[in-house]
Amino acid sequence: MRSLDFLSTDYLENPWPLYAHYRREQPIWWSDEIRMHCVFRYEHVHAILKDPRFTVEFPFRITEELFGRTLIDMEGPEHLRLRRKVAPLVGNANLAIFAREVSEPRITALVRAAAEQPPMEFMRAIAERVPTLMISEFLGFPLEDERWLFEQMMILMDHLDGKRGNRQEVYDVHTAVSAWLDGIIARLLSEGPGTRGFKRLIDGIRDETPETIKILYWTFLAGGIETSMCLLGNAATVLSRNPSWFEQLATVPSMARAILDEVLRFEPVQASTVRFASETLELGGVTIKRGQAVNLLLASAARDDSTFASPDVFDPTRTLSNSLSFAVGPHACVGKTFTMMNAEITLRTLWNTWQGVQPVEDAPAIIRGASFRKPHALFLKAKH
Ligand code: HEM
Repeated sequence: MRSLDFLSTDYLENPWPLYAHYRREQPIWWSDEIRMHCVFRYEHVHAILKDPRFTVEFPFRITEELFGRTLIDMEGPEHLRLRRKVAPLVGNANLAIFAREVSEPRITALVRAAAEQPPMEFMRAIAERVPTLMISEFLGFPLEDERWLFEQMMILMDHLDGKRGNRQEVYDVHTAVSAWLDGIIARLLSEGPGTRGFKRLIDGIRDETPETIKILYWTFLAGGIETSMCLLGNAATVLSRNPSWFEQLATVPSMARAILDEVLRFEPVQASTVRFASETLELGGVTIKRGQAVNLLLASAARDDSTFASPDVFDPTRTLSNSLSFAVGPHACVGKTFTMMNAEITLRTLWNTWQGVQPVEDAPAIIRGASFRKPHALFLKAKH
């Protein structure tokens, strides 16, 4: 059997044949290289995400080194309490007002300005900027720090993805962002509630200690920027190759979420996530020992033909109630509505501004990545 090399170009750019092979031949496979059980089938990934014997808590997790303590690394009553506390802030009612007052006007201005100079390099002009600006508005950051914040977060996310290895750099960036957050949180607490119609994150958590507020701020930074950039890049890549679906997203509001859900299944943003066994157990005929890590290949599960018929076909008409794009269980994504809403507004505005979008033929975009997947660059122009 071919061994899976998680940093090979083959794997990074076209993991689908390898995933299919492992799903069939060795659905739970121990990798000596990363010292984890790799889990490829939908049924096993789904079962582990829901199984309380698998935990996110583990000493010296890399995510804790990068972002400090966050919801991503917490279990138990405090984790549940904080999730419940932020739920109304990222729920439909609050975000509908945020969309009207912030997302629509800001994203429209950004897209229209970028569309004036075709061909557009979508990743730099739009995909990097929309998530950072929207998170900054929601968290109350000064917008003039947008570029700096994006660059700092990309350094940390590159470490998570195995692209960088300099620990001093991680320490320096973490320390700088942490001090910056301390200053912002102190200012927001002294200012009192905002005057806009929606609630910012701080408005729902200002009765918490500054330490807890910071945990939640870091959680949103870690969870919200890179992922949303990847969604925009993958969606623009897939849809510019499938223009009739791009047009439907822009013109048939009731179809937009189904189209984006299928983009996320077909070209997943988050390829994997990790859990640790809290006791020795059996799964799919394999013994997983207490303390061992399992690498859940969400991207492989998204193309598992036991769950999705013709999985290698992009088909927004399929039913996707069982998708794992945002995970399931106690750690399922809390930012789904936020990211889908902003992506829908961005792509609709781009299509409508140009009245049709197409890729620039001589610069085809390649979606690639280990933990997070996106095109490095994507050149687009108007249809006519
Ligand atoms: C397309 C964009 C996104 C994707 C694909 C995505 C995917 C995911 C996945 C798979 C998880 C679960 C990880 C695990 O269980 O180990 C997760 C958790 C999380 N996401 Fe997202 N996410 C996206 C955008 C966002 C945004 C925009 C935010 C914030 C506004 C956000 C906030 C969070 C938080 C706070 C968690 C941790 C929840 C917990 O551990 O209890 N995400 N996300």
